[in-house]
Amino acid sequence: MSALVDGLARLEYRGYDSCGIAGLENGKIFLKKRPGKINQLREEIKNHLSDKLLLGILHTRWATHGKPNQANAHPHLDCHHDFAIAHNGIIENYLKLKDELIGAGHKFASETDTEVIVHLIEKFYKGSFEEALIKTVAKLEGSFAVAVISRYHPEKLIGARKGSPLIVGIGKNENFFASDIPALLPFTKKVIYLNDGEIAVLTRNNVNIFSFSAKPLKSRIEKVKLKAEDAQKKGYEHFMLKEINEQPEVLKKTFSLYCKNNKLNFPDLSFRPSYLKNIKKIFITACGTAYHAGYVAKYFLEQYCGVDAEIDTSSEFRYRKLNIKQGDLLITISQSGETADTLAAVREFRRKGGKALSICNVLGSSLVKESDGLIYTLAGPEIGVASTKAYTAQIFSLYLFALYLAGIKKSLTKNQIQATLNELSKIADYQKEILDKCVQVQRIANKFSKLGSFLFLGRGINYPSALEGALKLKEISYIPAEGYPAGEMKHGPIALIDEYRAVVCIAPRDNLYEKMVSNMQEVKARRGNVFGILNYGDKEASLLADEVIHIPHLKNQFLSPLLVAVALQLFAYYAAKHIGCDIDQPRNLAKSVTVE
Ligand code: F6R
Repeated sequence: MSALVDGLARLEYRGYDSCGIAGLENGKIFLKKRPGKINQLREEIKNHLSDKLLLGILHTRWATHGKPNQANAHPHLDCHHDFAIAHNGIIENYLKLKDELIGAGHKFASETDTEVIVHLIEKFYKGSFEEALIKTVAKLEGSFAVAVISRYHPEKLIGARKGSPLIVGIGKNENFFASDIPALLPFTKKVIYLNDGEIAVLTRNNVNIFSFSAKPLKSRIEKVKLKAEDAQKKGYEHFMLKEINEQPEVLKKTFSLYCKNNKLNFPDLSFRPSYLKNIKKIFITACGTAYHAGYVAKYFLEQYCGVDAEIDTSSEFRYRKLNIKQGDLLITISQSGETADTLAAVREFRRKGGKALSICNVLGSSLVKESDGLIYTLAGPEIGVASTKAYTAQIFSLYLFALYLAGIKKSLTKNQIQATLNELSKIADYQKEILDKCVQVQRIANKFSKLGSFLFLGRGINYPSALEGALKLKEISYIPAEGYPAGEMKHGPIALIDEYRAVVCIAPRDNLYEKMVSNMQEVKARRGNVFGILNYGDKEASLLADEVIHIPHLKNQFLSPLLVAVALQLFAYYAAKHIGCDIDQPRNLAKSVTVE
């Protein structure tokens, strides 16, 4: 059982405001749950973590319905404590179901939407666990991945999936459910990714899968390529620092997979060259950091491929009245492949007849399953809640795709493509140079983190770098930070600037450099504290900056976001560390946002 708690701890990045465990002990359901982190729970249950508990479900929560307190933590029980359930997702019709169940005499112990599921199972149970779950899922609207145990069936663990990830792990004389691969890695690499509308019944030695309409289905066992160590800290103080440092390796792997002998090839792209050749418009959608990666891509897709590129956050995109023309492509970007808004955006776009290409870091994820084509990012498991290596892997993969597309469309010459590929192949080494400056970045971050708020300014392709720099800083250090296109500053945000504010100016020597220098002058004239991300050998902007991190100058100015990102990630990391924040698990956040 303690191994199961370790497994849960490997999923703590998905939510960490409360947690709990339910298991079968001496014919009864044992339940322990509490607000706070898994280590606190581990202490409380250490006397129960014996081998007497052979079957259990565990959950770590990111609150949607009801505060993160003991009552609302999962697992949840029915009135007679015959069943226990853990649930990810949202039951949209829970209020109606709850009223009906209360009317029929059920007693509720929490404010959650989840609790209706276990009361429905109780209501429908007439001796068959499977039948009770089938009848229950038919009543539910919304998204769910559930795992249920019952004291009537001490040999069975049963789960169902609709819209939230659920994976079956197949071990030796033991089987598992998990919502993500890292939890399973210490036990097994053999997995079945359940599809929406599927139920699985696990016993020690068997896995049976059937549809919500009770039709038996074949198991589709896949082998996971990741190693258990890929999801560990490997001596780093935080996952975030480890992941920042992994970026050069990730880019090297990506380059060698997708560019062999100077030829670009994407094995899972699945689009015919004739389709790609005629693309005129690309819509891009994603959330958070992945949205910023898409924003960077918008600039170079337009520049290299002669297409119109439009970007929107998925939460807005899914509700827009889109004017999709035949041949338009949607690019969605997601580390987890489970972000609810991004998935909904894909579904909507495809429903209207468009094709979707996903840039995704998790094979077997919902996004991968639901897209027409895939470019798999090779970042490996990203555990720190703040996305770092996934971001640069997304941008890098998209650069390669843009060059491939430009080759097909003949919007760039072979020589132009080759020159950019050459420079892309060197980015990993340039990133290493920036990583080697971590002591310098730490000193600047310590000094600047005392300032009350931050403005991140950039122009052109580094405007999204400014957005991402601000997001990284605010999400892990809680210092208010805004990203702005530098040219917009005088239309409002300049009012913020005084000697107590910090302004991060991203000003590599590109076609907008002189404009950035003027903006920096404006900041300095108002006594703002300037931290510049500038090229080696910079003269003018350096004179206006209180502190500088130098990055290599690139011939192709469109590639600089891959270097700027590393400097700003380190800066956010050290600022948060100096303040003493919980870097890998910042407050109120969860790694994978599987609800709208
Ligand atoms: C920020 C961060 C989030 C995610 C966003 C999308 O550091 O990690 O903003 O980028 O929630 O998640 P994915 O990429 O999994 O779709």
